[in-house]
Amino acid sequence: MHSTTTKSQRSGGVIERYREFLPVSPATPIISLGEGNTPLIYSPRLSERAGRGCDVFVKNEGVNPTGSFKDRGMTVAVSKAMESGTRALICASTGNTSASAAAYAARAGISCVVILPAGKIATGKLLQAFAYGAKIVAINGNFDDALRIVRELAETGDFTIVNSINPHRIAGQKTAAFEIVDELGDAPDFHLLPVGNAGNITAYWTGYQEYLARETSTKLPSMIGFQAIGAAPIFYDRIIEKPETIASAIGIGNPASWKRARAAIVESRGAIDVVSDQDILAAQRWLAQHEGIFVEPASAASIAGLFKWSDSADATHSSQKIREPTRIVCTVTGHGLKDPDVSIGRMEKLKLVAATVPEVRRAIEL
Ligand code: F0G
Repeated sequence: MHSTTTKSQRSGGVIERYREFLPVSPATPIISLGEGNTPLIYSPRLSERAGRGCDVFVKNEGVNPTGSFKDRGMTVAVSKAMESGTRALICASTGNTSASAAAYAARAGISCVVILPAGKIATGKLLQAFAYGAKIVAINGNFDDALRIVRELAETGDFTIVNSINPHRIAGQKTAAFEIVDELGDAPDFHLLPVGNAGNITAYWTGYQEYLARETSTKLPSMIGFQAIGAAPIFYDRIIEKPETIASAIGIGNPASWKRARAAIVESRGAIDVVSDQDILAAQRWLAQHEGIFVEPASAASIAGLFKWSDSADATHSSQKIREPTRIVCTVTGHGLKDPDVSIGRMEKLKLVAATVPEVRRAIEL
């Protein structure tokens, strides 16, 4: 078979593709699992739901190596940690950061400690941290408690923090915005995404700004973030002591990048809004059954947000105000198989059928 693909191109991820925008040098050892380059899928049905001549695209980050967008930032954070000679990584997590950190630590050959809020981590994510060999500590507290402990533990210098308070995480994650502009030929008009610790909205905004500054794009999108109603500190403008949501990944009451997220929203003339757990689950199901994209509940917050935005004049930022032609990108952040518990609960019990064609045909027709 003829192939011009070199060994490094095949395994290359976001550092290889966007090296000039990232804090790496020839001396940086590149720890990559081939992250990034995720599909930007045009959705005719979402476009129809949004109406008013909108074209809606879904950036599917669930197809990264560990099934979430975290891998983009983790490749940079872990490469830089290796450059500085670290021996162990540490993070607090609602699940995806820990899965990603554990995988990149394994790839780098160093250890990884993950501090998790007990009982609040989706099954698939916990399984990933185990599978990649991380040291897992479950605390009797929430994500915000876990992050506080991680910050203190890292003060000793024994660990490198790979939460998004590590600037290399944000640097890596901004590459998602680059990919979108590279593919669309310009920035979209609106970018909708779920918000938890608020690192990702900060990272996208940074990426869009850098591309504008380089004149790779001609405009900036309005950033529209969605939080779950029970975990919406930015929307309500106060710390939520006990964040509660079915979308466990974004169950955060005191986001680390709160200020920068606020700045992104204000500067981009965007908005922060809330969606209910019920709407999140309905959107998750809709996306799977109408577009074939199965995402975890937290990721469906951007789709639930688009629906709210399109259907309701009460939404903080209603699409009724927009003019055509408008391009909207919704980021879906993590794969549905990571957080299967709710979907499993909705599965119908299968009826056993005899292994004959007539019986199977009868079962199909029922
Ligand atoms: N979607 C998913 C699937 C996530 O895992 C997260 C965050 C977010 C959205 C929100 O992104 O925090 O940058 O605003 N998960 C973190 C974690 C907190 O520990 O895995 P954010």
